[in-house]
Amino acid sequence: MPEVSFDGRVAIVTGAGGGLGRAHALELAARGAKVVVNDLGGDITGTNGGTAMADQVVGEIRAAGGEAVSNYDSVATVEGGKAIVQTALDAFGTVDILVNNAGNIKNAPFSDTSPESVESLLAVHVKGAFNVTQPAFDIMRRNGYGRIVFTSSAAGLFGSIHQANYAAAKGAIYGLANVVSLEGAPYGILANTILPAAESRMAADMNPEQFVGMPTSAAHGEPEMISAMVVYLASEQNTHSHELYSIARGRYARVFMGVAPGWHVKADEPVASADDVAAHIAQIRDLDGYAVPGSMIEEFRLVP
Ligand SMILES: NC(=O)c1ccc[n+]([C@@H]2O[C@H](COP(=O)([O-])OP(=O)(O)OC[C@H]3O[C@@H](n4cnc5c(N)ncnc54)[C@H](O)[C@@H]3O)[C@@H](O)[C@H]2O)c1
Repeated sequence: MPEVSFDGRVAIVTGAGGGLGRAHALELAARGAKVVVNDLGGDITGTNGGTAMADQVVGEIRAAGGEAVSNYDSVATVEGGKAIVQTALDAFGTVDILVNNAGNIKNAPFSDTSPESVESLLAVHVKGAFNVTQPAFDIMRRNGYGRIVFTSSAAGLFGSIHQANYAAAKGAIYGLANVVSLEGAPYGILANTILPAAESRMAADMNPEQFVGMPTSAAHGEPEMISAMVVYLASEQNTHSHELYSIARGRYARVFMGVAPGWHVKADEPVASADDVAAHIAQIRDLDGYAVPGSMIEEFRLVP
């Protein structure tokens, strides 16, 4: 197996001025990619902004002998998404890799979650991923090659106390990624999603109550642990798409959405009632023999 490398490839990493995105950008550049380091440069809520965070990472990449340029646009607007992709075109002529990583956070108990915070998180995480992916996808489609990594969260797919707005946004990213992977497949564009867990300023803002009872043993939480998976998924070596991977506490694992065999009312049988559902709920809930559909149509085809 050849070493994972990116000679001549052009990558965009959003939110790369710190935390996980910085580690992704450094590793992609160290392996030969030309990198657009995007970051708004604000605080964890996504408020304010500045040039220092992105410039710092670009400085680190160049000091190590790599190639990188800064971009300070917000992913949260259509114009910002286009400008981020245009930065890659202006500096390096194309886009081969997109890592959608930018994110913000505003934790609160569900009853105290403001509509404004929901808007803000959907704007950065979901619309942000859409705004950058759409113009990048068009270029990748013309090139017949692309690798896209979306950043969701275990909070979004499994739930996390005091993170209703964040979980709603992170769950939506998975839906977006699945469609991008299906529509990208004929053009050599592969799209996958990660659920990372690593030390960062955002992770430090998590509600400590839900970690009570967690094993206290030392576990890997370095951002570089996440970058190993992201960089693999962004490489030519990766041939998988439409998949979801968890990287947490040193463990790399595929996560999947499956459907159980269930209880089937045949076409010549009467329409089910709530009483029929009650009578068959154990069979409906039984996961034995589940399948992992690759699309909505594949799910429907599972039912004869
Ligand atoms: N750290 C974890 O354990 C963890 C767990 C699950 C998911 N994530 C996700 O990983 C990604 C990286 O988070 P992190 O933990 O490194 O936190 P972080 O706060 O260090 O990184 C997020 C970056 O995104 C940037 N950003 C925010 N709004 C932006 C905007 N509108 N446009 C461009 N950039 C913007 C921030 O300035 C910041 O540098 C996020 O999407 C986060 O939701 C992290």
